[in-house]
Amino acid sequence: MSIDETLKTRMRYNRISSIFDLIEFPMEILFFSRWRRRLFNMIDPKERLLEVGIGTGKNLGYYPPGIDAMAIDISEGMLRGAIKRARILNLKVSLKLMDAEHLEFEDRRFDTVVATFVFCSVPDPIKGLRELKRVCKRQGRIILLEHMRPNRIPIGRLFDLLNPLIVRMMGVNINRRTIENIKKSGLVIEREEDLLSDIVKLIVARPA
Ligand SMILES: C[S@@+](CC[C@H](N)C(=O)[O-])C[C@H]1O[C@@H](n2cnc3c(N)ncnc32)[C@H](O)[C@@H]1O
Repeated sequence: MSIDETLKTRMRYNRISSIFDLIEFPMEILFFSRWRRRLFNMIDPKERLLEVGIGTGKNLGYYPPGIDAMAIDISEGMLRGAIKRARILNLKVSLKLMDAEHLEFEDRRFDTVVATFVFCSVPDPIKGLRELKRVCKRQGRIILLEHMRPNRIPIGRLFDLLNPLIVRMMGVNINRRTIENIKKSGLVIEREEDLLSDIVKLIVARPA
C-alpha cells in the first residue's frame, strides 16, 4: 500500500487518540470487554506474544500475568495511551511504533500473534496478515477479533454505502471481507466463531 495511505491512517488515529476510549466506551462495556477477556483466556503466560495494533492498550488488562509480550502500533498518539496504561497496570510490555505491513521482527519469533479490531484499518490488510504469518512460529497461532462486512445483501450494501464516511471520521472500514483476506494471506483458519451475528468474529488461524 502507498505511503500516503499509511500516513493517512496514522494521522487519523493520532487525531482521535485522545478521545478514542471515550468514543468506544459504550461498546467496551456492552461487548468488547467480554470478548477481550475471552480471547486472552486462550493464551498461556509461557507463550511469547505479539500484539499488533495495540491502540490505547485496551487489551493490556487482560494479558496473562507475567507474559513476555511485545506490542506495536502505527500511531504514536494511540501508543502513548498504551504506554500510560502499561505503566498504571505495572506491566512489562515492550511497545513500539511500527507498521503491521513491515514488521521489524525475524521470521517465526512469536508463539501467538494477536490483533483486535485492527485489520479494518490496516491499509493493505493482506500484506499485514502475511507479516503476521511470517513472524508466527509454525506451530503458533494468530488470534483475531475483527468486525467485517455482513453477508446478507441489504445490510452488506448498507455497510458499503456508509463506509467512505466512517473511514474519513474514524479510519475504520466497516465493509472489509476479512475472512477472505485471511485466506488470501495464506493463513489457515482453524476456528471461526460468530460473536455478533456474522459481523464480529473471533478467528484462530495457523501459519500453515
Ligand atoms: C480500531 S483501533 C483498535 C485498537 C485496539 N486493538 C483495540 O482493540 O482497542 C485500530 C488500531 O490499529 C492501528 N493500525 C492501523 N493500521 C496499522 C498498521 N498498518 N500498523 C500498525 N497499526 C495499525 C491504529 O493505529 C489503531 O490503533
